[in-house]
Amino acid sequence: MANITCGLGTSHIPLLGHIIDKGESADEKWAPIFDGFQFTKQWIKEKKPDVVILVYNDHATAFDMKIIPTFAIGCGEEYRPADEGYGARPVPIVKGAPKLAWHITESLIKQGFDMTIVNEMDVDHGLTVPLSMVFGEVEEWPCQVIPLAVNTVVYPAPTGERCLALGKAIRTAVEQFPEDVNVQVWGTGGMSHQLLGERAGLINREWDLAFMDDLQSDYDKLAAISQVEYIRESGTEGCEMVMWLIMRGALNHQVNEIHRHYHVPVSNTALGHLIYENADIAVDLKAAEDVA
Ligand code: DHB
Ligand code: FE
Repeated sequence: MANITCGLGTSHIPLLGHIIDKGESADEKWAPIFDGFQFTKQWIKEKKPDVVILVYNDHATAFDMKIIPTFAIGCGEEYRPADEGYGARPVPIVKGAPKLAWHITESLIKQGFDMTIVNEMDVDHGLTVPLSMVFGEVEEWPCQVIPLAVNTVVYPAPTGERCLALGKAIRTAVEQFPEDVNVQVWGTGGMSHQLLGERAGLINREWDLAFMDDLQSDYDKLAAISQVEYIRESGTEGCEMVMWLIMRGALNHQVNEIHRHYHVPVSNTALGHLIYENADIAVDLKAAEDVA
């Protein structure tokens, strides 16, 4: 049986990709950012996921104002790093996991999530930057990836409740896949940031840290946050944080936070990163009973 073992949340700030691609990630001035991923780089070597379901938003790269899928799942064989205006990132082609992706798609649609199916698309910094931050500079990405693109760019983005429910449905789908596959779900984007307009540069550290605190056990509270509240409190692009709720929904009720990193500023945003491991299943059943 396939199984979701771990979840990871991280910002996907394009500057981080530029620094890595220029060979400057070991530069002392960037240490406060990159040091927070040293643990992660070791951890992922032990965990060795076969497949990462990578939840991200496309930044008007593969999609634009003509077509805006709310939830899109990649069922293709591979995805090329996108040219976002300054050439494609010199990182490996992302290998898909079509068999598992089609299985998840069928299951999600039967569970009431009418996914947009994507067989061909280029993937932008939202997807490639997290891969670089976790796996570093590699010849090939050491796992397959199922891209799950969420509209957080054009109002209205999906609600936190719907994102949490999608995560739960993804868990159901994965657990019904008959092959042994070690799956992780990553939620990307955030933390607080606003790139344009009068409030450009907005950072709300208190909000970000409370979000990270509540995500472990109080995620239902976070799921109730409206998009307007995200925008007011965490900036126009802060609403990318709903994607972390998809990751959270895909995990057990009880998780252990085994790593956390938060740093301001990166570009003109806040960077957040954490790792959850599922608590063992016996503990989780107990926790679910206690909540009921
Ligand atoms: C920036 C872009 C993003 O998509 C994001 O999530 C954070 C920061 C930026 O351009 O700095
Ligand atoms: Fe983004």
